[in-house]
Amino acid sequence: MEPNTLYSVRMRASAGARHLSGAERIVPAVRVDETVNELVSRALEKGCRPDRLTVAVDALGPRPVWKLTSLDVVTLDVPDIPGSRLAASRILERAGVTGDAAKIAINLLANGPSASGGTMRGAMILDAVTGERLETDRERGVRASRFDWSDEASVKIISALSDAGLTHFRTREALALATKVSHAPGIVAELCWSDDPDYTAGYVSSPAMGYVRFPFLKQKGDKHGGRAFFVRHDGFQREVFIKYLQEEPVLVAYIGRCSRPTDPDEFLGRIR
Ligand code: COA
Ligand code: AMP
Repeated sequence: MEPNTLYSVRMRASAGARHLSGAERIVPAVRVDETVNELVSRALEKGCRPDRLTVAVDALGPRPVWKLTSLDVVTLDVPDIPGSRLAASRILERAGVTGDAAKIAINLLANGPSASGGTMRGAMILDAVTGERLETDRERGVRASRFDWSDEASVKIISALSDAGLTHFRTREALALATKVSHAPGIVAELCWSDDPDYTAGYVSSPAMGYVRFPFLKQKGDKHGGRAFFVRHDGFQREVFIKYLQEEPVLVAYIGRCSRPTDPDEFLGRIR
C-alpha cells in the first residue's frame, strides 16, 4: 500500500426507477476529465437511452490503495444450465460453502433475491454454513465499489483474457470486482450471474479457487440474477466486511493466470 492523489470516478445511468448501467474507475487528477467523458459516452452508447446519468468524482485522499493480483480465471465447458449450476455448487462446496447454503443461493438468484422477488441493487450476504441472509436491506444488499485495474494490468488482462477466448468487457469488470471481494475480511466465496436477459454467463469465485466462469448459468431471456457473497459462520464482522467492500480503494495491479476452457471434472480433480 502507498499514499496517493487518486480520484474515484463513478457513473450510473437509469431510466425511471430502472438501473441501466454503472461503471467506475480510479485515476490520477490529470485523467479525471477524460475519464468522466469516457464513462458518459459509455452510458449513452447503450441502446436504451438513460433519462438520468450521474457521475461522481471523489478524491481518495490520503487513504492507502490496496494493490492486488487478479484471481486466476478458468472457463468450465458445461453446455447446459442444470449441469452448470451443479458444477457451480460442487465448486462452492470445495470452497467451504455447505451444499444447503449453495442451494439456497442458487434458488434465490434463479427466482429473484430481493424482498419483492425481483433484482437487488447489490449483493446478498449469506452465512456459508447455514445460508442465513445477513444483509440488513434485502432490496439493496451490499455493493463493492472503489476498485479498478491499474493501466499496466488493464493492458495485460485484456490480452490474457482475449487469448483465453474472453473478449467481453463484462468479464474484465466482473473479474476486478471478484478480486476485490476475494480479499474481503470474512469472505468464503462468491456466486454471480447477471440479471441482464441477454447475458447468460456467470461465475463462482473464491480466494483459493480463483474465478471459475460458466457460459450458461441461466437461460437467454431470463431477467433473474444477482450476487451472493458467502461469509464465514464464526466471527464474521458485518460492518468491517461492508466497510471494506464499499470504501477501501483497490487497484488490481498484477494479473493472475487465464486458462483455456476446461472440462469441469478435470478442474475439480485438480483443486481437490
Ligand atoms: N443497481 C440498481 N441501482 C443502483 C446500482 C445497481 N447496480 N448502483 C447504484 N444504484 C442506484 C441506487 O439507487 C443507489 O442507492 P442505494 O445506495 O440506496 O442502493 C444509488 O444509485 C446510489 O448508488 P451509489 O453506489 O452510492 O452510487 P455511486 O455513484 O457511488 O456508484 C456504481 C455507482 C454503479 C458505479 C457502483 O455502485 C458500482 O456498482 N460499482 C461497480 C461497477 C462495476 O464495475 N461493476 C461490475 C459488474 S460486472
Ligand atoms: P451485473 O453483473 O452488473 O449484471 O450485476 C448482477 C447483480 O449483481 C445485480 O443484479 C446486483 O444484484 C448485483 N450487483 C450489481 N453491482 C454490484 C456491485 N457493485 N457489488 C455487488 N453486487 C452488485
